[in-house]
Amino acid sequence: MTERVLVTGGAGFVGSHLVDLLLERPDTSVAVLDRLSTGGSRANVEHYERNPRFAFVRGDVNDVGAVDDLVRQADAVIHAAAESHVDRSIDAPREFLESNLLGTQTVLEACRAHGTRMLMISTDEVYGAGDPDGGLFEEDHALVPRSPYAASKAAADLLCHAYHATYGLPVTVVRGTNAFGPRQIERVVPTYTIAALEGRPIPVYGEGKQRREFLHVGDWVRAALLVLEQGEPGLVYNIGEGHELENLELARRICALAGAPESLITFVPDRPGHDFRYGISAGRLLALGWRPEIPFDEGLESTVAWYRDHLEWLRRAHDGPVVTEPRGAHA
Ligand SMILES: NC(=O)c1ccc[n+]([C@@H]2O[C@H](COP(=O)([O-])OP(=O)(O)OC[C@H]3O[C@@H](n4cnc5c(N)ncnc54)[C@H](O)[C@@H]3O)[C@@H](O)[C@H]2O)c1
Repeated sequence: MTERVLVTGGAGFVGSHLVDLLLERPDTSVAVLDRLSTGGSRANVEHYERNPRFAFVRGDVNDVGAVDDLVRQADAVIHAAAESHVDRSIDAPREFLESNLLGTQTVLEACRAHGTRMLMISTDEVYGAGDPDGGLFEEDHALVPRSPYAASKAAADLLCHAYHATYGLPVTVVRGTNAFGPRQIERVVPTYTIAALEGRPIPVYGEGKQRREFLHVGDWVRAALLVLEQGEPGLVYNIGEGHELENLELARRICALAGAPESLITFVPDRPGHDFRYGISAGRLLALGWRPEIPFDEGLESTVAWYRDHLEWLRRAHDGPVVTEPRGAHA
């Protein structure tokens, strides 16, 4: 029997890779609900236009009727829709609460009405600033978010906990480290990469000392799907085991892969409240049998190559300035 999965935010970066993984399975069909805001593009799923196992609905996760209709037809829901960009949340926080918190409540409510299994895509940023000395947070660590984006995700993440405790909703949560790979825009890897390939200044925040952990999106979405299928309802699973490095080192490596001079690296004023590092323990996920398969160096090389081959495609897929004028170095 075909399993029907609804992926909210499925035209975004992580969401479209989830769709790829799901549609590799011949017995799975996918519906995407996405309003195509900054991170999303119809082009991210254009390769499925003619696939009878794929359906795209342009709409908002706050549209109660549309969400209910789609959830009713699904066996499982992966809720990945969110305004996802920390810098934009600093400029316009309210929109983040509307999409990320109220939108999640709409999806939870529809799942409750239909008794549907749900996976919430949350983030390691809900823990707040990590231990500068390299310590790792486990899932029961306090949530101390420090940006409006992270606070909106933390609120939504806790609402999932409440729906499980109060209504017994079978919902699991993943809190993921930074994913990187094809089709991402505006975050640190695409920003540095596109700037390097186009010979523009590569904007590095502060002195480039902040550290970030990166996991290739292929490994990231495999982890998420495993948690949907084998995770214990009501539990949270960190997605970690990525490669941690300083932003400046990342910029240097991308320069080398893009064939760009390091003189393009330009230090820009730091982001307010910029977390030094995160750092999560993925022991619970590892116990489910997941292991990362794509080494960081290989993943970064293939990602830079993908951007080199897709600069024109990105311009078509998104508004020009989003891609061609890096806003800052963030992850
Ligand atoms: N990229 C990462 O490194 C990372 C890490 C941890 C968690 N996450 C989480 O993964 C999810 C996807 O992030 P991403 O990096 O792919 O971002 P993205 O911006 O590429 O994708 C988000 C998608 O959600 C859609 N969307 C936003 N608001 C919506 C709304 N109100 N209704 C319908 N659709 C809406 C956007 O159009 C977009 O397609 C988010 O929940 C994010 O918090 C991402």
